[in-house]
Amino acid sequence: MKERTIFTVIILSLVLITVGYLVATQVDFSWLLPAQASSRAVLVDRLFRVMMGIAAVIFLIVEGALVYAVLRFRRKPGDDREGLPVHGNNTLEIVWTLIPAVIVAVIGIYSYRVLTDVERKPSDPLVVRVIGQQFAWSFEYPDSGVKSSVLHLPVDHPVQFQIESRDVIHSFWVPAFRVKHDATPGQIDELVLTPTEIGTFPVRCAELCGVGHAAMTTEVKVESQEDFQAWIDSGGTLVSSATTAAGSGTDNSAATASAPELLVQFGCGACHSLSAASLAGIVGPALDGIGTWGADRVEGQDAQTYIRNSIVEPNAYVEKGYAPGVMPQDFSTRISQEQLDVLVSYLASQ
Ligand code: CUA
Repeated sequence: MKERTIFTVIILSLVLITVGYLVATQVDFSWLLPAQASSRAVLVDRLFRVMMGIAAVIFLIVEGALVYAVLRFRRKPGDDREGLPVHGNNTLEIVWTLIPAVIVAVIGIYSYRVLTDVERKPSDPLVVRVIGQQFAWSFEYPDSGVKSSVLHLPVDHPVQFQIESRDVIHSFWVPAFRVKHDATPGQIDELVLTPTEIGTFPVRCAELCGVGHAAMTTEVKVESQEDFQAWIDSGGTLVSSATTAAGSGTDNSAATASAPELLVQFGCGACHSLSAASLAGIVGPALDGIGTWGADRVEGQDAQTYIRNSIVEPNAYVEKGYAPGVMPQDFSTRISQEQLDVLVSYLASQ
């Protein structure tokens, strides 16, 4: 009898270990996970698989015991006796405390190793500033002075992000990179990775940061080295005049971007809609027809003046039904005079 029990336990253990191993190594989880597009993703997903393997074994043990108990110890018809008074089982309690403790320790040590691996600083990374602001992401490349609202990265080249916030706490979330990192006002956080797959992947904000939180999205475009360099050389199509000093005198590429490009660069579409520029934000007032209705909002201001003031001093007049302080207050320091002129005359023509 005793020998049979030991034999059963050994067989069951072997079956469970095999199942756990197969889940960790063979099961295809790609339908469950976002694209695997960075050096981090590989390491994080490996950890995920190991944890899924362990979880599968625990699931089978718990559910197996449950089903076995339900079938084996089911009350017989006509049996109205009390159940046996059971006063605990020290061996069992030690075992089911010890095993989870070991599992937690193993996963903890493994996770720590994954963490140190993904945080190891590469040599000669491309530095990209990641700036969170209600309610848009923007990216700056200090080496070239390029600014963009879409993140461009060269494939297979290490990147060092410098993550910061202009207002409240945001969270820089790129599921395909397995990155989710807070952007905290008043500090710069560094984060390194290497994009490993060419493609376009979503960038999100993962910290509730205000009414426009859900709209705080953009994309990362991972490109070949050549495509990335061409994009940088074009000034990212979008060069801010505030950073021309970085170009050491070669100021020829700083042609002012077109109005639709500027709307993208400054993230206007996160909050505003404008059919002519395919903007679809719902947080702030719709901009269609602003060239007409903008003229009768503030006494003595024509549409042009109204639009200009609304950009550089948004709290001076707030459209009915909208809250003050939602529109960023610092566009006067971020938009050059030329860019402002282009935007104002474009919007006034709507
Ligand atoms: Cu920024 Cu949510």
